Amino acid sequence: MLEINDVTVSFGGLKAVNNFSMSVKPGEIHSLIGPNGAGKTTLFNTVTRIIEPQNGKIEFKGENLLSLNANDVIYKGISRTFQNLQLFQAMNVFDNIYSGIIYLYNKSIFSILSKSRKNYEEEARERVLEIAEIFEIKNRLASFPAQLPYGILKRVELARAIASDPELLLLDEPAAGLNNYETEEIIDIIKMVNEKGKTILLVEHDMNVVMNVSNIITVMNFGQKIAEGVPEEISKNEEVIKVYLGEEENA
Ligand SMILES: Nc1ncnc2c1ncn2[C@@H]1O[C@H](COP(=O)(O)OP(=O)(O)OP(=O)(O)O)[C@@H](O)[C@H]1O
Ligand SMILES: [Mg+2]
Repeated sequence: MLEINDVTVSFGGLKAVNNFSMSVKPGEIHSLIGPNGAGKTTLFNTVTRIIEPQNGKIEFKGENLLSLNANDVIYKGISRTFQNLQLFQAMNVFDNIYSGIIYLYNKSIFSILSKSRKNYEEEARERVLEIAEIFEIKNRLASFPAQLPYGILKRVELARAIASDPELLLLDEPAAGLNNYETEEIIDIIKMVNEKGKTILLVEHDMNVVMNVSNIITVMNFGQKIAEGVPEEISKNEEVIKVYLGEEENA
């Protein structure tokens, strides 16, 4: 579904992503892990066309992603959340989720033209309510981000990402900063979203989450792939333990 081939991204002399390849298969939860600064977010930013790679190819469902503008990636069926929340602070939760819906309808301008304005708004409104119900944030729709706890905000951002009905969802540390209870909730949400047919590329430091939800795990260090396999294999891989899991144990 997503084919990343020999991608290199340099910042000055630093190769944040170095000849990196990975392939995400439809229907899977594919985790990308690695120590701080490994290049995971840079890779997300490259896939979503925020950063231009110096080298390599990225295809989504056979189509060259690197020929698209950042604005168009979402219309192809790719959506994301951010490591540092990027909700619209001046909008309430309802409007934040609604902003994701706009993208859903823009995918096909004809679906808007063929409806009356009223129908479109009604349908979009219902969809926001439906999503809010699933993510258990219905009672927060009128609140603004500044008024809400972090755990709720993470869910709102995920809800906005889902609103555009993507086929592939890129999640950058959805459990970061969450307590144990909130982390369990996020695990359930990730699994539920995947069961509804979304393919997920997940960056996450919390090994509980990674080992619990992943079909396959790719490990990155200094911009390069150092291992790939099912959770069982990765948790036993000596190089991975050395560069990553071991590091966590020491922390
Ligand atoms: N815009 C930028 N300009 C210069 N260097 C950058 C830029 N973005 C990232 N880097 C550097 O590229 C490397 C990879 O960073 P990146 O944020 O992709 O790592 P990461 O794997 O997401 O780490 P973390 O787990 O801490 O989020 C780091 O050395 C970082 O300092
Ligand atoms: Mg990152």
